[in-house]
Amino acid sequence: MSDQTVLVTGSTRGIGAAIATAIEARGAGVLRHGSRPGADHIAADLTDPGAPQMLWEQALDAAGGTIDVLVNNAGLFQANPLESSDIAWLDGWEDTLRINLTAAAQLSRFAVRHWQARGAPGRIVHVASRASYRGDSPDHWHYAAAKGGMIAMHKTIARGYAAQGILSFAITPGFTDTAMADDYLATRGGPGLLADIPLGRVATPGEIATIATFCALDAPPSMTGAVIDANGASYVR
Ligand SMILES: NC(=O)c1ccc[n+]([C@@H]2O[C@H](COP(=O)([O-])OP(=O)(O)OC[C@H]3O[C@@H](n4cnc5c(N)ncnc54)[C@H](OP(=O)(O)O)[C@@H]3O)[C@@H](O)[C@H]2O)c1
Repeated sequence: MSDQTVLVTGSTRGIGAAIATAIEARGAGVLRHGSRPGADHIAADLTDPGAPQMLWEQALDAAGGTIDVLVNNAGLFQANPLESSDIAWLDGWEDTLRINLTAAAQLSRFAVRHWQARGAPGRIVHVASRASYRGDSPDHWHYAAAKGGMIAMHKTIARGYAAQGILSFAITPGFTDTAMADDYLATRGGPGLLADIPLGRVATPGEIATIATFCALDAPPSMTGAVIDANGASYVR
C-alpha cells in the first residue's frame, strides 16, 4: 500500500479516470481534476492562464499541504483545419498549446518548487502521445507540437532535478479506447486505421493506467527521463 498523495489532471473520464482508480487501488490518496464543477474533483478550466495555480493551491489545501506526485494527463484533441479562418486557426492552436503544454508546464513548475522548498522527493508523470515523435494528421499540427514540447520539457525536468530526488517520466500512448480516440477513429476510417496497428487493436485506458501507476509509485529512480511507448507496435522507434 502507498502513502503517497497524487494529483491527476483530467481524471473525470478516459485515461485520467483509469489512472486515478488504479492509483487509489494501491492505497494512495488521489486528487481528481476536471474542467467543470463536480462532486468528486477539483474544477479548473485549463484554457484560463490562472487555472493551474488555482488548481495547485486547491489540491495542496485538500491534501493537507503535501503532494508527492503530479500526473499531467489533461488534454484536448480537437481538429484545426488549415482551411479555417486565420483567427480561428490561431485560436485553435493557442487553446491546444495552453491546455496540453503550458498548463502542464505551470503545474510542473509548482510541483518542482514545492518539493524543493520541502527538501522532499517528488515525481511527475506526463501523458504525452505517439504524436510527440511521429507527428499527427494535417488537422493536428498543434496537438503534435504540444506533445513534442511536453517530451522536451519532461527530459529537461528529469535532467535538472534528479540530484534532488525529483523524477520525471513520460508515457506516449497510441490510440487508446476513449472518447478522444472514438472521435478520431470515426472521422478517419475506423477499421482501416486499425490495420496500421500490428497488435490489431487500440490500447485500453487500463493499460495506460498500469504504466502510469508504475511510473508514479514504483519505477526505480534510475528510470527518470524515460519515455514509455504504448502503441501496439504501430510506431516502433
Ligand atoms: N485517447 C487517445 O487515443 C490518446 C492517445 C495518446 C495520448 N492521449 C492523451 O491522454 C490524455 C487523456 O486522454 P483521453 O483520451 O483520456 O481524453 P478524454 O477522454 O477526452 O478526457 C480528457 C480529460 O482532460 C480534461 N480536459 C480537457 N480539456 C480540459 C480543460 N480545458 N481544462 C481542464 N481539463 C480539461 C477533461 O475534463 P472534462 O471531463 O471536464 O472535460 C478530461 O478529464 C490526454 O493528454 C491525451 O492527449 C490520448
